[in-house]
Amino acid sequence: MTRIPEAETAYDRRRRNQWLAGEARAEGVGRRDMLRLLTAAGLVTAVPVSLPAATASAAAGSARPAGPTEPSRTTVSAGEGIVKPLPPERFIVHGTNAETRFEALAGTGYLTPVSHFFVRNHTTTPRLDAAAWRLHVWGDGLTRGERQFGLAELKRLPSVTRTAFVECAGNARNFFKTQQNQPASGTPWTTGAIGTARWRGVRLADVLRAAGLSRKAVDVMPRGLDDEYVTPDGTNYGRVRRPMPLSKALDDVILAYEMNGAPLPPDHGHPVRLLAPSWVGISSIKWLGDIEVSTTPLYSPWNTDFYRLYGDAYPPEGSAPLTRQTLKSAFELPWNATLSAHTRHHLTGRAWSAHGGITRVEVSTDGGASWRRAHLHDPAHRGAWTRWSTPWTPTKPGPAELLSRATDSTSRTQPKTTVPNTQGYLFDAVVRHAVTLV
Ligand code: MTE
Repeated sequence: MTRIPEAETAYDRRRRNQWLAGEARAEGVGRRDMLRLLTAAGLVTAVPVSLPAATASAAAGSARPAGPTEPSRTTVSAGEGIVKPLPPERFIVHGTNAETRFEALAGTGYLTPVSHFFVRNHTTTPRLDAAAWRLHVWGDGLTRGERQFGLAELKRLPSVTRTAFVECAGNARNFFKTQQNQPASGTPWTTGAIGTARWRGVRLADVLRAAGLSRKAVDVMPRGLDDEYVTPDGTNYGRVRRPMPLSKALDDVILAYEMNGAPLPPDHGHPVRLLAPSWVGISSIKWLGDIEVSTTPLYSPWNTDFYRLYGDAYPPEGSAPLTRQTLKSAFELPWNATLSAHTRHHLTGRAWSAHGGITRVEVSTDGGASWRRAHLHDPAHRGAWTRWSTPWTPTKPGPAELLSRATDSTSRTQPKTTVPNTQGYLFDAVVRHAVTLV
């Protein structure tokens, strides 16, 4: 069962109580949606007369059911709006998104080249001019009012480098359907909505302090410059934005302007993106335009309707907003790969965890009856991956299932199944990889 840190649950409850007291803002979140969350959480029993009004949006007044669906656009042509080439041997295109084929990572080294890095776009990649770009930092959580930064000014702050993955919360969602017969809404990713890069930039903490951070600030809300996100039914959620507690913002978050030693490319947030290590990919806002710093908790659809766990195993108001990713492993092999029997193969793959470094990967070539340890090629590093390999000489032709099972330094091991949630987030179960031996 996915564990949500207690601190987040408590923070979420405090956030909701503050909204009830008129001390939190829910811009772009329908008032009825907020009430649904609060009523389900038992914080209100009837509609009180003096509730704070959420800022009107097309979403306001829409009464979505307790299990919202993950946003997905159906009216786009494949790969629409992505700038870089998406050759079919490297990517599986899902609408506005492109998934990395895991087999294409074989031999590419530790870092995912930009040419192979998955893209998750709510709309389309905007073309922004780095010279004209400005970051606006604003809100009542600043002591000296709004502050703007150009790229050159950001680069004058001390730079830091972090090797970290960005992984979509819905990565591996398709296995809820194919392995557990529990389909979930949203992009049917297999295991390729992840990439690991070396990011260079400045600490968000340094930027906030340079802007004059108030001791009373509690939340920050970074927002992208891409188009407003409008679903096919016409609901306008506004620009992609998701609040983050100041505790994370001041910890390890950076504003990245380089990826693998080169300026950030257009599809990955040029000129500047947020990088929130170990957290679900939606926290790493691309094409950063502004950051609100607030003394009161903030809401957006991305921490109310989306990126919470809804479903039978969860409270009606959903889990606390998702923070950390989970753990997974995958073979660098095509789906339904054909391999020759009686030949020695060198099976390779990658394993990763947002909770600790990878300490063990076991592989089963008999559908899970027996396991052996794979060789690990990289040091254990939380929030980044470890390459692994194992030799295998299959003895008989026919269909087979290859399984890999990762364990991290916090003793988490991939389970057999993942407790389902309606939007298919945080799949962590062992993936059964079908191959044919000839
Ligand atoms: N930021 C903006 N502005 N717009 C987006 O659509 N998608 C988010 C996040 N940041 C998104 C965004 C999601 S859901 C993910 S998983 C990551 O970006 C994907 O990053 P990548 O496209 O660089 O791989």
